[in-house]
Amino acid sequence: MKTETDMTTAIDAKQFRKALGSFTTGVTIVTTKGEDGKDYGLTANSFNSVSMDPPMVLWSLGKKSSSLPVFAATGHFAVHILASDQEGISNRFAKSGTDKFAGCTLARGHGGVPLLDGCSARFECRVVHRYEGGDHVIFVGEVMNFDSFEQPPLVFHGGNYGLVMKKAEDIADASSSFGNGWLGFLLARAYYQLLMPVRQNLSSNGLRDIDYNILTVLSMGDGRTIAELDQLVSISGSQVSDDDINKLVERELVALEAGDGGETVVRFTEAGRRYAIELLAIAKAAESDAERDLDYREAQVMTLLLKRVIRSTAATLPDHWQKDHFWRGNNLWHDRASSDAA
Ligand SMILES: Cc1cc2nc3c(=O)[nH]c(=O)nc-3n(C[C@H](O)[C@H](O)[C@H](O)COP(=O)(O)O)c2cc1C
Repeated sequence: MKTETDMTTAIDAKQFRKALGSFTTGVTIVTTKGEDGKDYGLTANSFNSVSMDPPMVLWSLGKKSSSLPVFAATGHFAVHILASDQEGISNRFAKSGTDKFAGCTLARGHGGVPLLDGCSARFECRVVHRYEGGDHVIFVGEVMNFDSFEQPPLVFHGGNYGLVMKKAEDIADASSSFGNGWLGFLLARAYYQLLMPVRQNLSSNGLRDIDYNILTVLSMGDGRTIAELDQLVSISGSQVSDDDINKLVERELVALEAGDGGETVVRFTEAGRRYAIELLAIAKAAESDAERDLDYREAQVMTLLLKRVIRSTAATLPDHWQKDHFWRGNNLWHDRASSDAA
C-alpha cells in the first residue's frame, strides 16, 4: 500500500503546475523597503485574503527568490493588485537582477514601503506571521491601509495573462430563447438589432435593404459593374438587378458611367456619397450604443473573436468574397478599411 510520502513523490511536477494553473488568480506586485534603504519587489499571484477582522492578507515567496532575505527581515510590505494594462510592469517585476523600479512614480506607505500607481487596489501591510511552506515562505500581513481604484484587473490563468469578462445574467435568457445560443441565431439577431436605426432611416427615405446593401458595397469603393455588385452583395443573400440600380439612379444616389475599360460602372453621385456617409455615421452610432455596456477591452475581445469566427469559417468562401475584393482605395471608410475589415 502506498504511504502518504509515496503519493507525494509520485506527483509529476509539470502536471501539478498545470493543474494549479487552472485556478484563475489576479496578479500582484509585492513591494518593500530593505534595511539598506533600497526598494524591492516582485510579481506574485499567490496573494489571497485571510481575515476581515482583523483585516489580513497573505502571499508566498519562493525560497529561491533573491528578495527572500529582504522580505524575511522587513516588518512591512505593500501588495498592488495589477490593472489589465499592467502586463509590462508585471513582467518587469518577475525578472531578477533588473532595476525593477526604474521610471516608476512612487509614493511611500507604512514602514516607508514603495507604493506604485495605476493598479486596481493597493494594501499596505504590517507583517504579523511568517510560515514555512515547503519551498516557499508564507507571509501574513495585517492591512494598515488600502486604496481601491476603478481599474479592471489583470488576470492569470494557465500560465497566461487574461482579462475578466463578466458573465452577464441576461446571457442565460438569450441562449434559452435563441436556439440554445446557436452562434448563427446570436449573430443574426445581433446584426438585425444593430441595424434597426439604419433601417428606420432607409425606410423614411423610401429605401429598402437591397439599396442599403448596394450603397454599403459602393461605400467600400465605387466604380463597379452591376455584375460585380451582384456578386459582392450576394454575401448578404440578396441579388442586385438592373432595376435595383435604376431605382437608385432615379433617386440620383448613383450614376452609370463609363469605366476605364469602357464598361458601364456604378458610381456615387455627390448626393449618394453624402447619404452613404450619413448611413455610416448612423451605423457607427449604433455600434457605440451596442457596445455601451462593454468596457474597452471587452469590445476589443468581441471584435477579435468575431474576426476569428470569420476566419475559421472562410475555407469554402468563393474567391470574390475575400476582403480584398470588397475594399478599394476610394472607400468612404478611410482608415477603418484596412484596420477593421475582417
Ligand atoms: C504571474 C506571476 C506570478 C508569480 N507569482 C509568484 C509568487 O506568488 N511567489 C513567488 O515567489 N514568485 C512568483 N513569481 C515569480 C517571481 O516574480 C520571480 O521569480 C521574480 O524574479 C522574483 O524576483 P526576485 O528574484 O528579484 O525576488 C510570479 C511570476 C509571475 C509572472
